[in-house]
Amino acid sequence: MSARGAQPPKVLRGRILWFTADPRTAPEPAHHYIEDGALLIEHGLVRQAGEAWPILASLPQGTQVEDHRPHLIMPGFIDPHIHFPQTQVIASFGAQLLDWLQKYTFIEEQKFSDPAHCARNARFFFDELLRNGTTTAVAFCSVHAQSVEAFFAESQRRNTLMIAGKVLMDRNAPEALRDTAESGYEESKALITKWHKRGRQRYAIAPRFAVTSSESQLEAAGALAREHTDCHVETHLSENEAEIALVRELFPWSRDYTDVYAHYGLLGPKTLLGHCIHMSARERAVLADARSVAVFCPTSNLFIGSGLFDWRATTEAGVRIGVATDVGGGTSYSMLRTMAEAYKVLQLQGQNLPALQAFHAITRGNAEALGLQDVIGSFEPGRACDAVVLDSSATMAMRHRMATVRTLEEELFLLMTLGADRNVAATYVMGERVHGGPGHDARPKAGPRD
Ligand code: GUN
Ligand code: ZN
Repeated sequence: MSARGAQPPKVLRGRILWFTADPRTAPEPAHHYIEDGALLIEHGLVRQAGEAWPILASLPQGTQVEDHRPHLIMPGFIDPHIHFPQTQVIASFGAQLLDWLQKYTFIEEQKFSDPAHCARNARFFFDELLRNGTTTAVAFCSVHAQSVEAFFAESQRRNTLMIAGKVLMDRNAPEALRDTAESGYEESKALITKWHKRGRQRYAIAPRFAVTSSESQLEAAGALAREHTDCHVETHLSENEAEIALVRELFPWSRDYTDVYAHYGLLGPKTLLGHCIHMSARERAVLADARSVAVFCPTSNLFIGSGLFDWRATTEAGVRIGVATDVGGGTSYSMLRTMAEAYKVLQLQGQNLPALQAFHAITRGNAEALGLQDVIGSFEPGRACDAVVLDSSATMAMRHRMATVRTLEEELFLLMTLGADRNVAATYVMGERVHGGPGHDARPKAGPRD
């Protein structure tokens, strides 16, 4: 898997939790939870996950044990929709999608023509993901090939499994951010040749959305998808009413927004469509048929005022679902904060989101949405040991509430409702610690004014 996998065996000890199926539909318990558990890691992969005592008893002398008790060890979080060039767009005031793009996003993304800016931001981006326990993400880079180069170079250095691509956009954007159907195709192709399946890196063909691509560019994107069937496709769909009206004007022949992507051959099982909020039954049926994935981005949908994702209708239509941050429309890198807002979006519609369902979604569920459930998202033997260690008592309010918590479900619900980066005591990538550590105190340090 990786040259860096040649490390001596190691053990992580703590309370271990991972999912084997979707708790909403599984007839049996859909997770393994081991109070005093251990993960035996060899060459960066999970060799064994189970009760600590038999694993510890059978270890060769001198095997390193990183003891995280009493914390929870889970598979690293997966964020299936995030924008690498928007780390300085996050928290931009007072606009809905189309204005927000023009006023803030397209300004900031122009800075990614500078490779030094790309490299600096890539370091920040990866630090921030790992601090939040996110070990895999699907990212949009900017239109510039150099932003993809910087992104994958940093990911390669960190040994993370990342999926990313250069956005294709040849209209309805400032000139400095426009490619052409031909140059977008050629640059994407060269980036696929260089980066797709290089180590743990994977390429996503990325027509930004129907508004910023001409018909010939969408055709070229469709050709790329046909020529590279093992690459993902990432885009946006039906996020905002004004966006949908504009798509209707730009593609007057289409039955609806979904039909535009279907027409150009962009829908398939590796297609990830951000938002999918304002969808008709017909559109959901098309996505279900194509086995494409609707990606729910709750903090973004609330912040940009886009609308409420209907999880129940989407599931009942048979559409696969992922859940993501969508930074910088989204307001947090934390998948815990993301699930807190997902819960509220569903509450507003009389739906609910039990904690087991939420933690399944951000680990194994998102791995399945990416078709990577055999590689990441659980601790079954042979999976990459990408892991997050969670301290459920990291703040005074959480420690206080933990005193009355009696069950795993209650603890997980507390973590998703009040949790954030401060609850991430450590993060591992291929068995190597990349953030925090055993005995790491995730609690805020008492400053002079605390
Ligand atoms: N639609 C097209 N581009 C974007 C983007 O950068 N963010 C969001 N939230 N929606 C989009
Ligand atoms: Zn987005």
